[in-house]
Amino acid sequence: MREVDKPSAADGEVLVRVRAASVHPDVWHVVTGLPRVLRLMGSGVRRPKDAVPGTDMAGQVESVGAGVTQFRPGDEVFGETILGMQWRNGGAYAEYVALAEDSLAPKPPEVTFEQAATVPTAGLIALHNLPERGRRAGQRVLVNGAGGGVGAVAVQLAKSWGAVVTAVDHARKLDLLRTLGADVVVDYTADDVTRSGERYDLVFDVVGNHPFSAYRRVLANDGSYVLIGHDHFGTQGRRGLGSIPRMFGLMARSTVDRRLSPGPFKPPDRVESMARLRALLADGALTPVVARAFALEQTADAIALLASGQAVGRIVVVP
Ligand SMILES: NC(=O)c1ccc[n+]([C@@H]2O[C@H](COP(=O)([O-])OP(=O)(O)OC[C@H]3O[C@@H](n4cnc5c(N)ncnc54)[C@H](OP(=O)(O)O)[C@@H]3O)[C@@H](O)[C@H]2O)c1
Repeated sequence: MREVDKPSAADGEVLVRVRAASVHPDVWHVVTGLPRVLRLMGSGVRRPKDAVPGTDMAGQVESVGAGVTQFRPGDEVFGETILGMQWRNGGAYAEYVALAEDSLAPKPPEVTFEQAATVPTAGLIALHNLPERGRRAGQRVLVNGAGGGVGAVAVQLAKSWGAVVTAVDHARKLDLLRTLGADVVVDYTADDVTRSGERYDLVFDVVGNHPFSAYRRVLANDGSYVLIGHDHFGTQGRRGLGSIPRMFGLMARSTVDRRLSPGPFKPPDRVESMARLRALLADGALTPVVARAFALEQTADAIALLASGQAVGRIVVVP
């Protein structure tokens, strides 16, 4: 940790005093430079381009740049620094960070800064990748890797439209998943969900540990399969290209299997999406569970705990 110049709010930006920042796998990717392809995709060839890591945070507005209309000093906000290519972003593991006005939303008083900080990127990923098609009460949804950052949001979003959710993760996370509303929980160390004999209308696969051919056994004929892709913190090989070859394979296959193309792509509206996450937090449909808060000086320990998989809930650093 070291002293750096305090950032300032450029035109259209808001300077926020950080009260909590989230520790999530994309920060791990940037600080370790793995998989290596990300270095060429903007994170920095020899070291991270942005000296201050961290993307998601919650805090208080300190000042605003020219043209900012939605926020004023003192407002409580949450948001992410991610704009454009996500691997180039950073800045949140600090006392102050400057963000685009569009990347922020007011923090609902119903949640703490620590809870709100865990939401933006994981929430936006879940929101934008859960297909609109087929959403209805009683829809049978399988979330694989449900106890992690993205999966826990996906479980709660699916419950918000009345889906019947089966959540798969490690045994130590199953109580958390029941608390979040999962109807059925499965311990991946004991059972193979692709051999359960059940049928699902949607498989939301955060982890990608089974091939699509295995999921076909449990996917309804008119169902949808979505892969987010998790690189398991470099423990599963794939240190060069990560999940990219698998994603391309599924994209190619989606031209002949409708279950892999869950609907027309609509570019997400960031302001609208952040407002949606804010509303879900405010009415209690989305409840982030914080496992542990570390001081900013302990950020390396916080990232190590994330990579160990031992935390049950989200991890934050607090300046
Ligand atoms: N969270 C974010 O803000 C964010 C932002 C951008 C992109 N992403 C991307 O989205 C992906 C997922 O992120 P995440 O935050 O959800 O990761 P995460 O918090 O590490 O969650 C992954 C979950 O999957 C579980 N898991 C591991 N192996 C499994 C298996 N064989 N079967 C079922 N579950 C298994 C893990 O449990 P164990 O503890 O047992 O390993 C963990 O609970 C990452 O690749 C990340 O790069 C995440």
